[in-house]
Amino acid sequence: TAEPLRVCVTGAAGQIAYSLLYQLAKGDVFGQDQPVILILLDIPVMMGALGGVAMELQDCALPLLKETIATDDPKVAFKDIDLAIMVGAMPRREGMLRKDLLKANVKIFEVQGKAIDEVAKKDVRVVVVGNPANTNCLVMSQYAKTIPKENFSCLTRLDQNRAQAQIAARLNVKNTEVRNVIIWGNHSSTQFPDASHAKMTNGDSVTERTVQKRGAAVIAARKFSSAVSAAKAICDHVRDLWNGTKEGEWTSMGVISDGNSYGVPDNVMYSFPVRIKNRKWEFVNGLSVSDFARSKMEATANELVEERDTAFQFLSTE
Ligand code: NAI
Repeated sequence: TAEPLRVCVTGAAGQIAYSLLYQLAKGDVFGQDQPVILILLDIPVMMGALGGVAMELQDCALPLLKETIATDDPKVAFKDIDLAIMVGAMPRREGMLRKDLLKANVKIFEVQGKAIDEVAKKDVRVVVVGNPANTNCLVMSQYAKTIPKENFSCLTRLDQNRAQAQIAARLNVKNTEVRNVIIWGNHSSTQFPDASHAKMTNGDSVTERTVQKRGAAVIAARKFSSAVSAAKAICDHVRDLWNGTKEGEWTSMGVISDGNSYGVPDNVMYSFPVRIKNRKWEFVNGLSVSDFARSKMEATANELVEERDTAFQFLSTE
């Protein structure tokens, strides 16, 4: 049998991880022939709760889960790993300014970038979920100097899944019949969900555009942010990263913008349509961009440039 994959999940005592860990451990993502070792990282005050999560994983009696390690030390957590799923982040508290949230989080991702650089496998893949996901991802990749920037990506798959499901509902077709919806830019309210290149499985174009502020609606209804749907989206993202995208299809993820053909400035983690093969992604180039789309793509790029500059200003002056 295959060597176990070493997978670290950060924020492992939180609500997304609670759904995510089970799906990773039972073979939903890497397949039924691939054993895994799960390494759970959270902060010291959460160690009690994290111990409970580890107990529950054991109690699932899963054949593919070889070992569970719970720790509050990033250097233990990232040791020799193949994949890091970075869910842990400081949540936004009431009255907290966006800048303060950014400041607290980029500091976390600086520390974790340095730690992963030191102890992880050099071909590790890193998926950033914790918000602001794109900028956290950029900061982490910048401080992990010996790991290629292409190995880092951030999650916009939940936005893509939301868009796909809303279009399918509007058109009264199955979710699986809608393909190639694109999310451009930042995982924030400036993101541009683009259905203009989407297709139905029968080849028809998709003409409806009905993506709304779904994240806020879930929070308003549930009083907590999306968790099951976020965990499902992380699994979709990682599965595509590991197994590749299907022939004729692409997916969206936040990746380093260097060398893109859509006029997005270099050195931001911007969500693009990508094709994936052998765990490497490439841009889907040559899609037509309307004037309307262009202005939306620029607005979200501008926000990312501003976030990046604010982040590195904080990090250089502390
Ligand atoms: P949560 O608050 O339930 O869990 C977060 C966990 O991270 C907590 O257990 C906390 O102790 C831990 N944590 C904080 N600092 C840490 C550090 N330095 N190292 C390790 N762990 C640390 O939050 P939830 O609902 O699980 O969400 C996690 C993050 O994912 C949030 O930032 C949220 O905004 C983001 N998110 C991103 C989505 C996306 O599409 N990119 C979708 C949904 C959520």
